[in-house]
Amino acid sequence: MDNKVPNHVAIIMDGNGRWAQKRGLKRTKGHQKGAQTLKKISEYIYDKNIKVLSVFAFSTENWKRDKEEVDYLMKLFIKAFKENFETVKKKGVKVVFSGVEDKLSDKVLNTMKKMSEETKNNTNGIFNVCLNYGGQDEIVEATKKISSKVKNGELNIEEIDASTFNKYLFNDLPPIDLLIRTSGEYRISNFMLWQMAYAELYFTDVLWPDFSPEDMDKALDSYNERDRRFGAIKNK
Ligand code: FPP
Repeated sequence: MDNKVPNHVAIIMDGNGRWAQKRGLKRTKGHQKGAQTLKKISEYIYDKNIKVLSVFAFSTENWKRDKEEVDYLMKLFIKAFKENFETVKKKGVKVVFSGVEDKLSDKVLNTMKKMSEETKNNTNGIFNVCLNYGGQDEIVEATKKISSKVKNGELNIEEIDASTFNKYLFNDLPPIDLLIRTSGEYRISNFMLWQMAYAELYFTDVLWPDFSPEDMDKALDSYNERDRRFGAIKNK
């Protein structure tokens, strides 16, 4: 059987808090371990020749968590971005961010800007970090941008199709082929709704901090067994 490599993998890295609580540790320890897992798994993914990786780092709903946890996560993002910067540059991967700037500190925004600016010409792959992100918001924002172009006479309604729409999203990314969610939750949680239209979904009970390259292989094996038809009839 041919080994199909997905072009775009997206991950909902869930279970950091439970991983820590199971060990009698603070939830923040789970996020710390989760960041290490992300470093390892992202390297593994690009080595497998998967071109685009999207991760859910922080949702617009995550502000409802305790201030201590939110503050920790923001500091962790800055630290992890800085630590991963050399790897990203070495691998020639372009870093992009999806989400809104609202409520993010200047320190976080500046680190994000630096990463995207300094990697913008990289062509080996894309690392899309969804930070302060909501999937419905992304579609609403794109609709507003399109509407204003139509209103100003810069765009004809007839020109709007799925591929035009895609260009008005936070980033013009290819469709997701494989979505992975860890920790035994079977939800999409407002993550990349538009891009996920035809994604194969893979759920595992493994908590994100424990997710290993072997677990990634299991997800890829499962993807390989899927019969993707995109609404067509088999063998047509
Ligand atoms: C969900 O687990 C995880 C998060 C809200 C944060 C994800 C962040 C990381 C993995 C840190 C590194 C990220 C980057 C981009 C450098 P949860 O806290 O909801 O877990 P629970 O469901 O067990 O409570």
